[in-house]
Amino acid sequence: MQTDHDTRPLGRSGIRVLPLGIGTNKWRRADRAAVRQTYQATISSGPCMIDTAEIYGSERVVGDCLRADPGPALTATKFFPFPGRTSPRRLMHGLDGSLARLGVKTVDLYYVHFPLPLMDVRVFAQGLAEVVKSGKARAVGVANFSADQMRRIADHLARAGVPLAASQVHYSLLQRSPESNGVLAACRELEVALVAYFPLASGQLTRASDHKRTKALLTLLAEIATAHDASIGQVALNWLLARDPHVIPIPGATKPQHVRSNLGALNWRLTEAEFDAIDRASAHRP
Ligand SMILES: NC(=O)c1ccc[n+]([C@@H]2O[C@H](COP(=O)([O-])OP(=O)(O)OC[C@H]3O[C@@H](n4cnc5c(N)ncnc54)[C@H](OP(=O)(O)O)[C@@H]3O)[C@@H](O)[C@H]2O)c1
Repeated sequence: MQTDHDTRPLGRSGIRVLPLGIGTNKWRRADRAAVRQTYQATISSGPCMIDTAEIYGSERVVGDCLRADPGPALTATKFFPFPGRTSPRRLMHGLDGSLARLGVKTVDLYYVHFPLPLMDVRVFAQGLAEVVKSGKARAVGVANFSADQMRRIADHLARAGVPLAASQVHYSLLQRSPESNGVLAACRELEVALVAYFPLASGQLTRASDHKRTKALLTLLAEIATAHDASIGQVALNWLLARDPHVIPIPGATKPQHVRSNLGALNWRLTEAEFDAIDRASAHRP
């Protein structure tokens, strides 16, 4: 069980971030004033990673927030590949578009958003190495890659002298596959940050439920939350943080009270007994 809640490294990139970031995939359609307040609440806590992607349509909204107050925010965005849009040149063009929408010269982290089944990851590695060497991205990562794909791209990147900094995958108390499919193990072995998306299971892990599949787990989370004068969501996020020091959850939020509550998870820790009880309840759902 891990208890360091100060900052966490983005792999071996030399960049350190708050252990919780924020997801922005709903910022485009959300109330703009609420989003600005959400952003302010986020950066008031420190070097928080703001996660966007060219396909979310939220890069301009993030860019407006950065222009108003860059603060200590770190920006992560993603290249969306599809057949015919995979070459290093297309990846660099993709990043140029993101930089223009964000209104910055450099992003802190640039990901390839998905692997393509029939494509050699070497092509992505070339593109990612070039964006770091061009100075347009400080670090690079992959999203939705298997452990094997991760290992192969990390190897190609290493030959170009660039570390794979982050692997972003679906991970929460309701979706623990990174623990069994090799992704968490690969992150540990290669020293790569595991950036957890959907860490609150799209909000399911923030409130009590009568659903057969989640009732026992959520009842336990609620009891632990009460004991710490905390929220259910904070318990769910704290469990991920305690699970492994490589994990950096990025809960999505469009309301300032939600981001304040989520970041409040950094102010307290689960006991070992609580961690173990959640581990068992989450692993043995009906
Ligand atoms: N790489 C990928 O392929 C991929 C795929 C999906 C998502 N992502 C990233 O992961 C991020 C997270 O995903 P997500 O936002 O869909 O799911 P999530 O983080 O599991 O849940 C977000 C939902 O929970 C609500 N919420 C957040 N904090 C809360 C709180 N303290 N109390 C009550 N409700 C709360 C939010 O409501 P409000 O909006 O009302 O605040 C929102 O409806 C995305 O924004 C995106 O950046 C990446």
